[in-house]
Amino acid sequence: SPRWPGLIEAYRSRLPVTADTPVVTLQEGATPLLPAPELSRRTGCEVFLKVEGANPTGSFKDRGMTMAITKAVEEGSKAVICASTGNTSASAAAYAARAGLTCAVLVPQGKIAMGKLAQALVHGAQLLQVEGNFDDCLALASKLAIDYPVSLVNSVNQFRIEGQKTASFEIVDVLGDAPDIHCLPVGNAGNITAYWQGYREYCTTSEDPGPATRTPRMWGFQAAGAAPIVTGQVVENPSTIATAIRIGNPASWTKALAARDESGGRIDAVTDRAILAAYRLLARHEAVFVEPASAASVAGLLQVAEAGELEPGQRVVCTVTGNGLKDPEWAISGAPAPLTIPVDAAAAAAQLGL
Ligand code: F0G
Repeated sequence: SPRWPGLIEAYRSRLPVTADTPVVTLQEGATPLLPAPELSRRTGCEVFLKVEGANPTGSFKDRGMTMAITKAVEEGSKAVICASTGNTSASAAAYAARAGLTCAVLVPQGKIAMGKLAQALVHGAQLLQVEGNFDDCLALASKLAIDYPVSLVNSVNQFRIEGQKTASFEIVDVLGDAPDIHCLPVGNAGNITAYWQGYREYCTTSEDPGPATRTPRMWGFQAAGAAPIVTGQVVENPSTIATAIRIGNPASWTKALAARDESGGRIDAVTDRAILAAYRLLARHEAVFVEPASAASVAGLLQVAEAGELEPGQRVVCTVTGNGLKDPEWAISGAPAPLTIPVDAAAAAAQLGL
C-alpha cells in the first residue's frame, strides 16, 4: 500500500478542505488498533486499544491540529493561541513550527507534565504559565483571540473536531463496522464530541450509504476530582493526578451530554487510584505505556465490568489518548529504586536471582 499521507489526504472527501487548501501535516493518524488480551480476559469482551500516543507529538491532539493549523494558514493567520493542560500546546507548537506560524500557549502554572512543557519549548512556542487552572487559561485565550489578531486552536474551534473525528473512521475501517462500546477519557469534552460526530457521519442512513451499519454506545470517564459532567456542577478547584483532564468547566459539556444520550451511553467518574491501577495494568500486561489520563478509559471499562454492568461478548474500543513518556513521574514513583552493583557478573547474577 502507498505511504500514509496523513489524515487530511486519507479522508479528504469527509473534511472541510478544497483542492487549494494548503495542507499542514506531520502524517498523523493511522494509529494502531491493538487487541488487548488481558482486558478481554478480564471483561469477557473483545477489547481493543486505539493507541493515540503513536501520533507525531504523542497524543490524539495531532488529529485536530493538522486541520486547525491547515485552516489557520488557509485563512491567512500569522499566529495561533491555545490554552492547554499540555498536549494541545505540544501539538499546536509542532504544527505551527511546521507551518511557520507564531504559537502562543497558556498553561496552568506547575500543573503540566514535564515532557509536554519540553515539547512546547523545543518547537519554539511562546509559553506563558498562568496563575490559575486550565479553565482560567481557556477563558484568557478565548478573550485574546477576540481582541487580537490570533486564531484560537482549542477544541472549541470546529476544525479541531473535524480532524479528531477521523479516529472513528479508522476504527470502522479496521473492524469493518463500529464497535458496540467506545470508551474515552473526558476532560474538556472535545474528543468524545468528535468521536460521536465521526461515528454518526460514517454510519449508513437512508440517504447516505456509509461504511458502518451502526453507531457505538459512548462511554466517557472523568477523574473523580474533576468530574463536572458526572455531578452536574462546575468544579472550582479540580484535582487529579491525571493533569491532562484536570478540568472543572468543560467547553463541550452539552455536546458530551448529547453524545452520551444519543448513543445510549454513560459518563462516569473514576478515582485516581483506579486510574493508576489501569495505567500499570496497561503497561505490565498489554505493554502499552500511556499517560495517566489515558488510563481513565480503561479504568472506567473495568469499573463497569466489576459492577456487573458490562454484558460479555461485546466488541469494545478504549482510546488511550497520550504517550506515557510525556509524564513518566508515576511510572518512576510507583517502582522500587534500581539497585547499584559493581562491574561484576556474579554480583549481577546474585541480585537477579539467576
Ligand atoms: N487525554 C489526554 C492525554 C488529554 O491531553 C486530554 C485533553 C484528554 C484525554 C481529554 O480530552 O479534553 O477532548 O475531553 N487535553 C487537553 C489539553 C485539555 O490541553 O491538552 P478532551
